[in-house]
Amino acid sequence: MQIHDSIASFRAARPAMGRLAFVPTMGNLHDGHIALMTQAADHADSVAASIFVNRLQFGAGEDFDRYPRTFAEDCRRLEAAGVRHLFAPNETVMYPVPQRYQVAPPEEQTGILEGACRPGHFNGMATVVLKLLQIVQPEVALFGKKDYQQLMVIRNMVLEFNIPVEVIPGETVRAADGLALSSRNGYLTDTERAEAPRLHSLLSGIRRALQAGERDIPRLEIDALEELAAHGWQPDYIAVRRRSDLQPAQADEPLVVLAAAKLGSTRLIDNLEI
Ligand code: PAJ
Repeated sequence: MQIHDSIASFRAARPAMGRLAFVPTMGNLHDGHIALMTQAADHADSVAASIFVNRLQFGAGEDFDRYPRTFAEDCRRLEAAGVRHLFAPNETVMYPVPQRYQVAPPEEQTGILEGACRPGHFNGMATVVLKLLQIVQPEVALFGKKDYQQLMVIRNMVLEFNIPVEVIPGETVRAADGLALSSRNGYLTDTERAEAPRLHSLLSGIRRALQAGERDIPRLEIDALEELAAHGWQPDYIAVRRRSDLQPAQADEPLVVLAAAKLGSTRLIDNLEI
């Protein structure tokens, strides 16, 4: 695997890559990331990944400083997954000057769910993804449904800025007990790790209830919030939404149920399509 730590190095190698599928990450790779790499290989001649912990998408008081950085092990996993190119810039390469020009997704997307809980997060995320797409110039880019709202923001950005890339979603990879894999799971204590699958099982319960004909969405949301709180969680939201734009939904359109909650000092998110 070639590791490119400068834009010039990546650009020089780009013509030889042919049709390219790209998977951007913040590193500390787990099986969810690797599944995206494997899926990417089906769509292109070669696969490129990036590792960059993007300060711009972390709020004050969030976990930028303690975000796990495991570069050597990540490289081994990428190599084993057949990834041929890694773009791994440092902050000076990505932000040589303060990033004054930033992507501002519309309020209807940033004012809800993750956007409401993490002000500025989607501006920082969309800005770095736009920069990465400009640098890497892939034909295809893959993003996980685990970050459902992120995927929606990226799809809309690509559409409205006419970025010549096909966005392909990847299914969420889970541990055997249902917990969605996440770099942040490593923050959990053993007791918290044992409790963490409750988030997925509550979402599954909501899905089952809706599929069985339950129509009272607010009741389902409130019951699940109460159950989390009763088990020591601090929930941010549990929300049944329309898949297309994540706005409040009627029970008879394609739905997704999304959740975010803190367990101890760790904030977990998850979702399930219904
Ligand atoms: P990161 O959290 O490292 O995730 C990189 C990609 O892996 C994202 O598309 C994410 O949705 C996907 N992913 C994470 N956990 C997954 C799981 N359990 N199953 C399947 N896919 C999973 O998301 C980011 O980084 C950043 O915001 C980024 C897009 C790189 C911009 O900085």
